[in-house]
Amino acid sequence: MIQALQEATAYIKEQINHQYEPEFGIILGTGLGALVKDLEIRHSLNYSDIPHFPVSTVESHSGKLIFGDLGGRRVVVMQGRFHYYEGYTMEQVVFPVRVMKLLGVKRLFVSNAAGGLNPEFNTSDLMVITDHINLQPTNPLIGKNIDELGPRFPDMSEPYEDRMIQQALDLSDHFKLNVKSGVYVSVPGPMLETKAEYKYLAAIGADAVGMSTVPEVIAAVHMNLPCFAVSVITDLCVPGKIKKVKLQDILEAAAQAEPNMTLLIKELIKLQE
Ligand code: HPA
Repeated sequence: MIQALQEATAYIKEQINHQYEPEFGIILGTGLGALVKDLEIRHSLNYSDIPHFPVSTVESHSGKLIFGDLGGRRVVVMQGRFHYYEGYTMEQVVFPVRVMKLLGVKRLFVSNAAGGLNPEFNTSDLMVITDHINLQPTNPLIGKNIDELGPRFPDMSEPYEDRMIQQALDLSDHFKLNVKSGVYVSVPGPMLETKAEYKYLAAIGADAVGMSTVPEVIAAVHMNLPCFAVSVITDLCVPGKIKKVKLQDILEAAAQAEPNMTLLIKELIKLQE
């Protein structure tokens, strides 16, 4: 595994002429790829050209690793991510995050589309993730520990950096973005939840539910890479407000929230050392 990661990293460094070492990594979720429009692009690599990189199968995700400047800072953006429900192993799901770390990123920023379990939430709200619950059936650290990346038993008491959460909430006040905060629960999918499952997820303490993010954050925390994550609430999962969900509706709600999400991530990145 470590050799595959090193080969992928070496290939990428060669493609970017060893010149453009990114400071920050960004993973864009379903319907949230438009942040790339705000990027001054330096290099764009297809996942399919990078050795050992998994290749994206979902139509709403295009598979590119994009290097550029965002708000004057050097970033690497994953346009399109890998989900466990697509049939990838957890090691494949987190492969790009591990490569980002080996490329030198100091912080990871993650976005996703999620269902709102908290009755205070509305469609197209942003929710800063303060903590998570992992209900995926496995995780990327199962198996022999890769000591070169991190410890056997990584601490999980602060998976999302408190400092960045506070900065994001301050930015939300400043720009009047009305950003919410809460706990994200990650489920395997690909089916959405039953009404009884939504009730259960709210009861165990989650404010939003989705099918991604937690594996990547676990891999990042393992490597001591501080994380910030934000959900876009694309549908409401509260009794009385539950409607049949179509991918099109999720994409539309995500598109509506996208400008605020991009602003939040861009401004937050500017504040980092
Ligand atoms: N459940 C799970 N994942 C989701 C949802 C949902 O309601 N909405 C967007 N992603």
